[in-house]
Amino acid sequence: MAVPALHLEKVSKDFGRIIALRNIDLKVEPGEFLSILGRNGAGKTTLLNIISGVSRPSSGSVQLFGTDPGDRENKAKLAVISHEMFLYGNLTALENLEYYGRMYSVNDLEQRIKTVLHEVELTHRRFDLVAAFSRGMTQRLTIARAILHQPSLLLLDEPFTGLDQQAIGMLIDLLKSQKELGRTILLTTHDLHTAKVLSERYIILEKHQIMQDGLMTETNPDEIRKKYFSPLEKAEMS
Ligand SMILES: Nc1ncnc2c1ncn2[C@@H]1O[C@H](COP(=O)(O)OP(=O)(O)OP(=O)(O)O)[C@@H](O)[C@H]1O
Ligand SMILES: [Mg+2]
Repeated sequence: MAVPALHLEKVSKDFGRIIALRNIDLKVEPGEFLSILGRNGAGKTTLLNIISGVSRPSSGSVQLFGTDPGDRENKAKLAVISHEMFLYGNLTALENLEYYGRMYSVNDLEQRIKTVLHEVELTHRRFDLVAAFSRGMTQRLTIARAILHQPSLLLLDEPFTGLDQQAIGMLIDLLKSQKELGRTILLTTHDLHTAKVLSERYIILEKHQIMQDGLMTETNPDEIRKKYFSPLEKAEMS
């Protein structure tokens, strides 16, 4: 059997007294698209940070393509799209992409840059400084930068936030084509309908654990919403 794209065993993470994740077991096969659902504070971002190697688990083991997330070859296989932009405001869109492209030794860089700028519909703004970009435009460029080196594993933390309807459509199409290319994709979102459009599998984090691991085709989004996203009981909140 092929090595899983991602394999977590008994992963826990504490921040001092705060428990963020408890005994997470998760295996994701290459080419799978997994949505990670759960209310605010459920541990979604923490989980993605552990997978990307930004944060170490307090205990348990994490493997990307059979090796440690911090390994050099894994850095080249990974793309992270979150609210951190990783862009230089004093450079143009084109210069940012050239900078990252050289850092990742992207082959045929000029052509790749053309392709990704076209995909995120920013070609006409390529000579403008990123500091002068709107939030949504910056988010589009972040996406372009993240897929420039053709990563095998994409980690997206609420990537639709701040995008207008057209950009949401653009990102959905882009993710569908990434999926067709066989990429492994993990997406956190509060938008169940988008999750259902894109992914075949979902997990729900609740009380620091995976409370459900299922197939979207077998699940009605409204049922998930009713069951897991109803307001917390007052007793639990205090
Ligand atoms: N750097 C940190 N220091 C202390 N506590 C943290 C830190 N990062 C996360 N936490 C805590 O870990 C828990 C999980 O947070 P996390 O950001 O992973 O949630 P989330 O599911 O991404 O929530 P949201 O939907 O709001 O983005 C929360 O209780 C949070 O306060
Ligand atoms: Mg989060």
